[in-house]
Amino acid sequence: MREYLSQHRDRFREELFDFLRIPSVSARTEHNADTRAAAEWLKARMTEAGLEATLHETAGHPVVLGEWRGAGDDAPTVLIYGHYDVQPAEPLELWTSPPFEPVVRDGRVYARGSVDDKGQLYLHIKAIEAHLKTNQRLPVNVVVIAEGEEEVGSEHLMPFVEQNVDRLKADAVIISDTTMFAPGMPTIGASLRGLAYFEIRVRAARTDLHSGSYGGAVANPATALARIIASFHDQDGHILIDGFYDDVNVAPEFVDQIRTLPFDEKEYLEEVGAPGLFGEKGYTTHERVWIRPTCEVNGLLSGYTGEGSKTVLPAYAMAKVSCRLVPDQDPVKIQELFEKHVKKFTPPGVTAEVVVMHGGKPWRAKLEGKLYEAAARALEEAFGKPITYAGEGGSIPIVSDFERVLGAPVLLMGFGLPGENAHAPDEWMSMENYEKGMLASALLLNEMGDGK
Ligand code: BES
Ligand code: MN
Ligand code: MN
Repeated sequence: MREYLSQHRDRFREELFDFLRIPSVSARTEHNADTRAAAEWLKARMTEAGLEATLHETAGHPVVLGEWRGAGDDAPTVLIYGHYDVQPAEPLELWTSPPFEPVVRDGRVYARGSVDDKGQLYLHIKAIEAHLKTNQRLPVNVVVIAEGEEEVGSEHLMPFVEQNVDRLKADAVIISDTTMFAPGMPTIGASLRGLAYFEIRVRAARTDLHSGSYGGAVANPATALARIIASFHDQDGHILIDGFYDDVNVAPEFVDQIRTLPFDEKEYLEEVGAPGLFGEKGYTTHERVWIRPTCEVNGLLSGYTGEGSKTVLPAYAMAKVSCRLVPDQDPVKIQELFEKHVKKFTPPGVTAEVVVMHGGKPWRAKLEGKLYEAAARALEEAFGKPITYAGEGGSIPIVSDFERVLGAPVLLMGFGLPGENAHAPDEWMSMENYEKGMLASALLLNEMGDGK
């Protein structure tokens, strides 16, 4: 199996690059055909690898399944999840090379979706192929599930999972869609934040008005929206939405664990390129990102933003705002608190509408049992280093649902790296991690399977 992985290394890279050339941007309808093409491409590669691959329509982008159940009823079944959709690549002018033309520089493949999540999904398919082509079998039954809507909230995956519980029933769920704590440090993800996403639409006059003729007499939606946004935090970065922190509940062991992990502020500042750090007072950077909730403006729109100046009183202002949530905050409850807060802080003379976009529950791993022991051994062997547990600031909405609906523990075994530019220009994935991840996945299937 190891030999097969090294013999076919170049082909495995080329196949990933083909996958990366498909602009499967789930958020954009003009890319719907590309998103479907990525699903079809994946299905064909799964079939070649020796899986029984099928494509399943949903009300949104399709789900791809790859199954191999030859290990028998007594052997465990492992469900491997990933997503073939990617974030929009804009702003294109900030990319060093075009986002859908993968290029290797300094041992990294640069392309949109390289690390999030095509490389991390595809390495599992190649690990499966290595087993099947060398031993004609896998040590466990395997179901691979790849969705095309993760980057837009996984709206249609949940109903698919609920309708196919029997087919997806597994003893363990494995996901590679997270980041290692540092290069060379194999990492198991200990938590994910949840999400509640909103759009706030503020309106005053029927249309834009002359700011000389009407300014001062009619409310300005941009100013009103700014006041609403400013009401979310105090000076110390604490969130002021009533009841927001009521259900925040962090395991004390996890806080102790976080405190043992090193943090180099200078390096972090270089990575992000900001003049300084700012966050909720009283918490370290790791705590702010992993165990504290946030309320962030993701986008703002109002008035005239083109060349030169235009004296206008805007009729409309809009903000996209998302709250990252931590256990045991509930996205539905946060929605209610958020709507109430916006209503309370809407200044006179405007209307403010809150549109709820999507949400996902926060999640914390139990970090125990056969799956976690097996993963630690596989990762240590593949990377030659002991594992680290780290929190994750991002969200993968389906994770808590998998645990609830399938009753199986979820493992986050990520091969991304800090500074990988996921969702940003110049996204990359380390080629070394692509290959070590493949080995770790192949070893993990052994560890989960016979004789272990
Ligand atoms: N792979 C990320 C999740 C992630 C990011 C995990 C950083 C760990 C660290 C995933 O593709 C993602 O971006 N998820 C979205 C979910 C949202 C659209 C519901 C996110 O976190 O913004
Ligand atoms: Mn992802
Ligand atoms: Mn993502």
